[in-house]
Amino acid sequence: MLNPEIIQLPKILDDRGNLSFIEESNHIPFKIERTYWIYDVPGGERRGGHAYSDLQEFIVALSGSFDVVLHDGTKELRFHLNRSYYGLYIPKMMWRELENFSTNSLALILADKKYSEEAYIRNFDEFVQKRNAG
Ligand code: TYD
Repeated sequence: MLNPEIIQLPKILDDRGNLSFIEESNHIPFKIERTYWIYDVPGGERRGGHAYSDLQEFIVALSGSFDVVLHDGTKELRFHLNRSYYGLYIPKMMWRELENFSTNSLALILADKKYSEEAYIRNFDEFVQKRNAG
C-alpha cells in the first residue's frame, strides 16, 4: 500500500503571475474521476472525519491554509497545507480530517472514484479494526 506524502507540483514562475498544474497518473499516482472543493468554512469548523475503503485522494490548498490530520490505524500524522504548488496524496484506508481552516481557504480535492456513500467508513473504531485486520 502507498503511503501518504506531500507531492510538489510544477511551478512556472512568471512576472505575470505563477502557474501550477496537475496531470493524472503523472504528478499524482491515479486517474482523476472526480474533483470537488471545500470553501466558505466557518472559523473553527472541521470537515471529513472518515476513511474510504478503496479511494485515493490528492488535496491542495488552492488558497489559504488548513491542516489535514491522518490516522493510519496506529498513529496520527498532521500535514499543514498552505501553498497551491504542493498537495497531500492520501491512499485508501486512512482516517482523515481537515481542520484549522484560515479565512477564505479553498481546499481542492481530486479523487480516483465517483461519489458513493458506500465508499465511506464513518466509524473510527470500525476503521481501526478493518485497517489492522488487513
Ligand atoms: P462528506 O464527504 O461527508 O463531507 P466531509 O467529509 O468533507 O465533511 O460530504 C458531505 C455531503 O456532500 C454528503 O452528504 C455527500 C455529499 N457529497 C457529494 O454528493 N459528492 C461528493 O463528491 C462529495 C465529496 C460529497
